Amino acid sequence: MSFRFPESFLWGGAIAANQVEGSHLSDGKGLSTSDVCPNGAFNEIVERQDGDFNIKDIAIDFYHRYPQDIALFAEMGFSCLRLSIAWSRIFPNGDDEQPNQAGLAYYDKIFDELAKYNITPLVTLSHYEMPYHLAKNYQGWASREVIGFFERYAKTVFSRYGKKVKHWLTFNEINVTLHEPFTGSGLPRDCSEQTRYQAIHHQLVASAKAVKACHELIPDAQIGNMMLGALIYPFTCNPDDVQKAQAQNHDWLFFGDVQARGYYPSYMRRKFAELGVNLDISADDREALKETVDFISFSYYMTGCASADPNQQQQAQGNMLRMIVNPYLESSEWGWQIDPKGLRILLNMLWDRYQKPLFVVENGLGAKDVPNEKGEIEDDYRIDYLSAHIHQIGEAIQDGVDVMGYTSWGPIDLVSASTAQMSKRYGFIYVDRDDDGNGTLERKRKKSFYWYQNFIKSQKKIKDIATFIVAMMKDHHYECKKVGLPVLFSESC
Ligand code: BG6
Repeated sequence: MSFRFPESFLWGGAIAANQVEGSHLSDGKGLSTSDVCPNGAFNEIVERQDGDFNIKDIAIDFYHRYPQDIALFAEMGFSCLRLSIAWSRIFPNGDDEQPNQAGLAYYDKIFDELAKYNITPLVTLSHYEMPYHLAKNYQGWASREVIGFFERYAKTVFSRYGKKVKHWLTFNEINVTLHEPFTGSGLPRDCSEQTRYQAIHHQLVASAKAVKACHELIPDAQIGNMMLGALIYPFTCNPDDVQKAQAQNHDWLFFGDVQARGYYPSYMRRKFAELGVNLDISADDREALKETVDFISFSYYMTGCASADPNQQQQAQGNMLRMIVNPYLESSEWGWQIDPKGLRILLNMLWDRYQKPLFVVENGLGAKDVPNEKGEIEDDYRIDYLSAHIHQIGEAIQDGVDVMGYTSWGPIDLVSASTAQMSKRYGFIYVDRDDDGNGTLERKRKKSFYWYQNFIKSQKKIKDIATFIVAMMKDHHYECKKVGLPVLFSESC
């Protein structure tokens, strides 16, 4: 790739507590909503019984193995790791008065380990989980009280880690409640549109309050939102399809519009009227929403189409989404439509809309990795997928878009959010564990590990060469002046 990414560009990977840590009840942690979904985010909710199998109870044992895993990230040259704090490690029930000290101490160790390698943490406050007690006894985000509990949690972690963590995100894929109310908001799956949007409203207010607290408690930090970047194309140029695609894009851009602009966009008035939704929004809520995010982040895996034609409804898969198939695109083994160029389109669209820095905080290919006869994993398909997407980020930067960084999803194999499979692998690092929990948990570098390492190194090398040339030019300037020779480069060049 001849294009050079900006020097400050952050390179790394992204993980989530409930998909890697395991130790789901250790050191005072409470049950989370993820702990009661043993078969993935939109499968049945199961009250825990002793002896029940849930692959996430151990996951990949990052809880104990983080020093080794972070060392491997450092070996790849990461300058950033996106990770989440499990809310239920800090406030086991969510409504506790005091935080759990053991939970706080755990993340101190993680951030110290990252600091050892100069890896910048990018921390999500809530990634597809909340304390289960809040879902069970408060109906999750349907309750206004949960705003206060979340604010207390956010302030606790900002105060505790403010010196170590300068990059934050509020809710992972905040638009997911539209597709999966329990995982997104701790709501019953059969909740009404009224309940769903009221819960979303509470979450948006809580997000804005967290942004305010972050600005006050860590003035030199940056805090962003996080959306599932669900870009929808019109299936044809028929204006009916175009209008339908626009409406579907509004469904998720609505979240970014509130979080980046500080108020509800006008198109939602009609939507709410059509759905019969009448939100309880107080004057204080409107005031709180004015605190906007510093940057926009999103996940990007696929795109889809919208069609107004009832005969044109062939559905494509997506972890939380159902979209119309785009005949120009290929799909992953799980039916997710692969569209690198869509990433450039989306980056341009978000930049045009918000004029705030953008961060691609998830992107990757879930695939079955089969070791060859030597036991090695030659995942060229993953390398192709990632390099094509990174290339399009470079194109977007050349279009003038401000992109802060890229953290690919699951740099180490982890438990799938939608299916709870281990066999849906995203990693540069293989983890020996199967869907039934068999395996040694041993880590192994895949071919993509060396590819990403070399790629990041090539970017850093460019940085080093640039620094070297500037130093040489400066030397030349002073040496020439010292001995009275003509100066070829001015000091400022
Ligand atoms: C994103 C989530 O939607 O997609 C992650 O933020 C998730 O938590 C990722 O793991 C990939 O989805 P899946 O279902 O393949 O794990």
